[in-house]
Amino acid sequence: MSGSDEYRHASRRRPLPVPLSGVFRAESNVESSSSNGKVWTKYGSMMATRTTTRLHAVNTCGEEMSPSAEEKKTTPPSSPSSLRNCLTLCGAEEVGKINGYTWTSNGHVHFSHTKKKKLQKSPSKESFEKVPFITAALTHLGFYILMFLGFINQLFFVPKVATEKNRQGYAPLYDNFEKFYLRYVYRRVRDCWNRPICSVPGATVTLKDRVTKDYGWTFQFTGTETQCINLGSYNYLGFAEASGKCAEESIETLRKFGCASCSTRLELGTMPIHDELERLTAKFLGVEDAIVFGMGFATNSLNLPSLVSKGCLVLSDEKNHASLILGLRLSGAVIQIFKHNNVKHLEECLKKAIVFGQSTGEPWKKIVIIVEGVYSMEGSIVHLPEIIELKKKYKAYLYMDEAHSTGAMGKHGRGVCDYYSVDPREIDILMGTFTKSFASAGGYIAGTKALINHLRIYSHAHTYAASMSPPVTQQIITSMQIIMGEDGTDDGEKRIKQLARNTRYFRRRLNQIGVITYGNEDSPVVPMLVYLFSKIGAVIRTLTTRNIATVGVGFPATPLMQGRIRFCLSAAHTKEQLDYVLSHIEEIADTLGLKYSRKPRVPTKIEYYSDNETE
Ligand SMILES: Cc1ncc(COP(=O)(O)O)c(C=O)c1O
Repeated sequence: MSGSDEYRHASRRRPLPVPLSGVFRAESNVESSSSNGKVWTKYGSMMATRTTTRLHAVNTCGEEMSPSAEEKKTTPPSSPSSLRNCLTLCGAEEVGKINGYTWTSNGHVHFSHTKKKKLQKSPSKESFEKVPFITAALTHLGFYILMFLGFINQLFFVPKVATEKNRQGYAPLYDNFEKFYLRYVYRRVRDCWNRPICSVPGATVTLKDRVTKDYGWTFQFTGTETQCINLGSYNYLGFAEASGKCAEESIETLRKFGCASCSTRLELGTMPIHDELERLTAKFLGVEDAIVFGMGFATNSLNLPSLVSKGCLVLSDEKNHASLILGLRLSGAVIQIFKHNNVKHLEECLKKAIVFGQSTGEPWKKIVIIVEGVYSMEGSIVHLPEIIELKKKYKAYLYMDEAHSTGAMGKHGRGVCDYYSVDPREIDILMGTFTKSFASAGGYIAGTKALINHLRIYSHAHTYAASMSPPVTQQIITSMQIIMGEDGTDDGEKRIKQLARNTRYFRRRLNQIGVITYGNEDSPVVPMLVYLFSKIGAVIRTLTTRNIATVGVGFPATPLMQGRIRFCLSAAHTKEQLDYVLSHIEEIADTLGLKYSRKPRVPTKIEYYSDNETE
């Protein structure tokens, strides 16, 4: 998904010659007005001071066109956006400082940070071990054999599926490769996905058993059920419970307010409970205001177009979620991807963006960096301190999706800012969902009052989508109050500590077993690499027979070479449950040959609990 057309298009764009400082360039198609000898354009940036002369940028250092000393004094770029096109890394005599940049004698601006400042480092507890060569070769071979068998199968056996009728002369409505892949590759392991459940997805989950008599084309329920330890739900703090305070208060709210408002927030759908949740969310996150929406996916996809548009540049992490990508596509902004969590590459992209500007030569209207807090496919944690430094240095905005980190990370469960002890007000746009740690549904955007007021008017999700259901809202309020300790107990604190303890213990034990895991030591999503497509199915099926439910992820959701099992840890898991799971993983790893890791293994017993680790 991250290799979307827009992305590829953006990254292939020909680097433009560096436009001269905006002070010298006036395009004939730009509407401008003059005041105090300075010409202002409709873009809001000051462009020309030399009356009617139309000058065009031709070189990168522009000595010939340097302004006179007089002009340099009177015409410094006045806004960060007008500065953006003027930035150069050329060394030159410094004559003044504006907004952290230095105005130079050659008409350019360069950074005032003359000494190269080292970026603050996030503690490195991450591991992305490389796939062994033999495994890589076998994975490719195995996949092509599956595809080849699929083609033979399709050639000789007509699939038992509905086909489009009376469509002669039409182009096929559905993508041919996708159809082929689903029918002949994915069908072989289809039983491992979309498994119906009939309980809350808590520490354990009840699966409805089913069988297939036609090799995965269809499934029938057997009428029996299987209770499994659940390592497949984002129930980070264990609030997915059928009884207890959250369930009781949600049922009570359902009785009082019904299950839906049947209207949008902007019309008749706003209830006092929505306002209460927004106030509580802002307080929980430590920011001025928040706005909530009924769906996490729509929070990204329908709000991003209200924040960025044509003429804006978005620098997006290559592993960003589909909801972010969709929102960005809808917005019309230019999207450029940077390598996953790679601060160096991000800085390069920022520099280029500022120097080259848009293809028209105009500076970008704004530059927005978009990252996630915890990446659920990789188990990595954003390098937030470095990214904040960059965003400040280059005057870019930062949008952070905390779907997997809010509630789950940090001493107080307040997300990645809490984890790194960073002031949440350093992030311009904080986004998160209520689907994971709060065991509910929906999403939020939090930040300054001005940002939230803007969204209350311009957000499509606020204007056109039905408001959040009252019992769903109540589930979030109650669980958030527990996390904050506002219920008068230390239950929230205990859950946060238990999740951190479970995470470290489980990850360290897996490393000791010798399997390859991805991501950060503190991330509660734990991808275990199995590489081969057939091994994903084998691991999931075998674990299910041992009453362990988990999730597999393979191509096209991951790169071909990186098929994995994803374990999601929860505060609801006990040490006994984790030990049971780990003993079976060890056995399966031996049988299926999953011990790919070449890292040294800790020979001593892994401790479950250590005070200074969780404090
Ligand atoms: C990073 C991220 N953002 C947004 C979403 C969408 O949230 P929801 O599932 O609540 O619609 C998800 C879903 O998993 C996600 O992982």
